[in-house]
Amino acid sequence: MTQQNPDQYLVYGNPIEQSRSPDIHQIFASKSQHNISYKKQLVALDDFSTAVSDFISQGGKGANVTAPFKEQALRLADVLTERASLAGAVNTLTFKEGKIFGDNTDGEGLVQDLLMHGVILKQSRILILGAGGAVRGVLLPMLAQNPDAITIANRTVSKAKDLCQHFSDERLSACSFDETTGQEFDLIINATSASLSGDLPPIPASIITTTMVCYDMVYGKNKTPFLQWAREQGALKVIDGLGMLVGQAAVSFAIWRGVIPDVQPVIDVLRTAIKEG
Ligand code: ATR
Repeated sequence: MTQQNPDQYLVYGNPIEQSRSPDIHQIFASKSQHNISYKKQLVALDDFSTAVSDFISQGGKGANVTAPFKEQALRLADVLTERASLAGAVNTLTFKEGKIFGDNTDGEGLVQDLLMHGVILKQSRILILGAGGAVRGVLLPMLAQNPDAITIANRTVSKAKDLCQHFSDERLSACSFDETTGQEFDLIINATSASLSGDLPPIPASIITTTMVCYDMVYGKNKTPFLQWAREQGALKVIDGLGMLVGQAAVSFAIWRGVIPDVQPVIDVLRTAIKEG
């Protein structure tokens, strides 16, 4: 029996070497018995749209998009989901019916990871640290979970205020890190890029409680500086962003292949690889 050619997918970025998307999607595919090829492609900064049209003409079915091309991908798409449009960024392209469809699966990846960890989002009070692209990308799916309030605290408060205005939802509010003092939260999500440079967003230790959940969108071999600090302040439940990474990939896979893959085996494989690497 002849094997059909695999459907082709890839991820665009610059840099791209670090991307784990090919591994993640190949595991999803083999566990769900889908025949796909998934590669990573380094694209020159001014070459994104050419790279996409070349791939479409070669029969490519879809692509993930990572930094710095998510905004360009948004502009390139013929059809956008509401969550991609509000996020101002596209991480998942689908090529079908002669059109380019753009979606953003980051927020749903975060939500699914939180729910998988048993975090209750309905009627919760959430504090998000940061007001950059990472936050803009997740706000609509977070709001769709019906929290009571989402407070956005940022070093540059005006950026947090701009985000509230952009999403125009009465459950959103903006403040400085200091102004979180005395407020009560069920969940804190660190979405600043501070962890990447080993820094901590300067929030008051007094807002950390033993019952709250602390989440960092970043992950690494060791606990991130924010999660380490939260633990030292008494937080019992701390979660890093590895599950969000796998979760956003799972939503992309579901869009392309019509099946929702099991994320846990992939998280386990990656966790081991990260610990050993
Ligand atoms: P991303 O796409 O990862 O969100 P970004 O759009 O550059 O990247 O946003 C980075 C976020 O991390 C911003 O909210 C930034 O705060 P400012 O808006 O005040 O710049 C925040 N950030 C980066 N380094 C930080 C630090 N050392 N302490 C606190 N916040 C920091």
